[in-house]
Amino acid sequence: MKMRNLQVMLIITVLLLLTALGMHIIYTIYNISPTVQLAGRLTGNALKIPVQLEDTNPDPAVSDFVLTAQAGQTDFINGLPAATLGYNGNYLGPVLRLRDGEQVNIRVENDLALATTVHWHGLVVDGDQDGGPHQGIMPGESWSPSFIVDQPAATLWYHPHLMGNTADQVYYGLAGLIYIDDEISAGMEIPKDYGKNDYPLIIQDRSFYRDGSLAYRTSMMDVIPGDVILVNGTVNPYLNVNRELVRLRLLNGSNSQNFNLRLNDGSSFQQIASDGGFISNPLTRTALFLAPGERAEIIVDFSQIDRDRLSLMNGSMAILDFIVSGQTSNSVEIPQTLRDVQTIPIGTAPKTRVFELQSMGVNGTINGKFFDMDRIDEEVNINETEIWIIRNTGGMMQPGGHPFHVHGTQFQMVSRNGQEPPPAERGFKDTVYVDVGEEVAIKVQFTHKGIYMYHCHILEHEEGGMMGQFRVQ
Ligand code: C2O
Ligand code: CU
Ligand code: CU
Repeated sequence: MKMRNLQVMLIITVLLLLTALGMHIIYTIYNISPTVQLAGRLTGNALKIPVQLEDTNPDPAVSDFVLTAQAGQTDFINGLPAATLGYNGNYLGPVLRLRDGEQVNIRVENDLALATTVHWHGLVVDGDQDGGPHQGIMPGESWSPSFIVDQPAATLWYHPHLMGNTADQVYYGLAGLIYIDDEISAGMEIPKDYGKNDYPLIIQDRSFYRDGSLAYRTSMMDVIPGDVILVNGTVNPYLNVNRELVRLRLLNGSNSQNFNLRLNDGSSFQQIASDGGFISNPLTRTALFLAPGERAEIIVDFSQIDRDRLSLMNGSMAILDFIVSGQTSNSVEIPQTLRDVQTIPIGTAPKTRVFELQSMGVNGTINGKFFDMDRIDEEVNINETEIWIIRNTGGMMQPGGHPFHVHGTQFQMVSRNGQEPPPAERGFKDTVYVDVGEEVAIKVQFTHKGIYMYHCHILEHEEGGMMGQFRVQ
């Protein structure tokens, strides 16, 4: 059985590689890979702001949500329609706003022609509510997870996780944000007016054909980086802001590209949160690295900016223009203590596991194994803190870094290459970037039961085998 699976997988992999190679050659010969002419940055498009999904349950202690995965059309480039996917809309999805301690019931409907799943990335719930590859939803059917929110305020996200269809479903638009609020976030003196001074920024690289449609291109070597960066599905976006503190909740929602974010004039900003919520103290930064799947919240003080325009850059490319106006409002100070980040308790001789990441083009393995849905790789005891050591031993053809993600938990970093983790990585995280030759040790504890995934969050790697399963009981 195992042998057969492996053979089938190998054959599929070879076929996929051949197809990718063929497509790559066709692209190269006919140069149909597009270069989109974007309008000048002074005449961009207003940044789209996702809606917050309505809770249809009047009981304040319970939220009921309906999320429908559907196909649609989106005009990204010059009014040309592209076939896209979205939740309750044409591209991306609404923000699900949850409160710590409340009961949440979600009905996920699949109006697509294909099966899908919806995974709550970063949410600490039982394995069968997690929306991983085991919770497939057939076309026309629905799935109704329900859980009690059991974690501090944070910016999380959701996206499909179906074996073989994650990368393309995300690429065509299936993703959205989850905000968790709690007493601390509600009482904190920071910008929290959604769409006024608290903005989500879902950042994704994309490519387009000349007819305006999305061009999802992979080769046997890797995923071809998109030449356009979308923010909340907006091409060439701008955002009007006042001269005040503005909070930006950043998600790297790309399939495979890393982002190096900064402001074009080199201004600093304060980082206040990482994947799993607030860090203990605001951190002054001038640059921020985000690998696929990672989030960060930052506060930019526009009262300190005299110019009327500022750009958020990825490397040397402007990805969002801020148009700054109005009077300087009396700058409120960001509290110097955000929250008391409890360190995960750990015993004296914790169980230690090693995860070796190795990539081969768009495929890869963890501990030498390709993903097998019928195999549980690790058995973990509930509530026992373990040390996981993640090593990137490099690879053939594409020796890049891997963002390692663990479902069902928020972990803490113990060390990066034997050193104390940098301040930005001392809070709760669910995804950690491990570059070639690097070794990261994390402290993980699972408080819920079930079967969960760990994987590289380069979605093509995840689908190409770099994923494993563990059972918590
Ligand atoms: Cu963002 Cu396994 O997922
Ligand atoms: Cu996840
Ligand atoms: Cu990877």
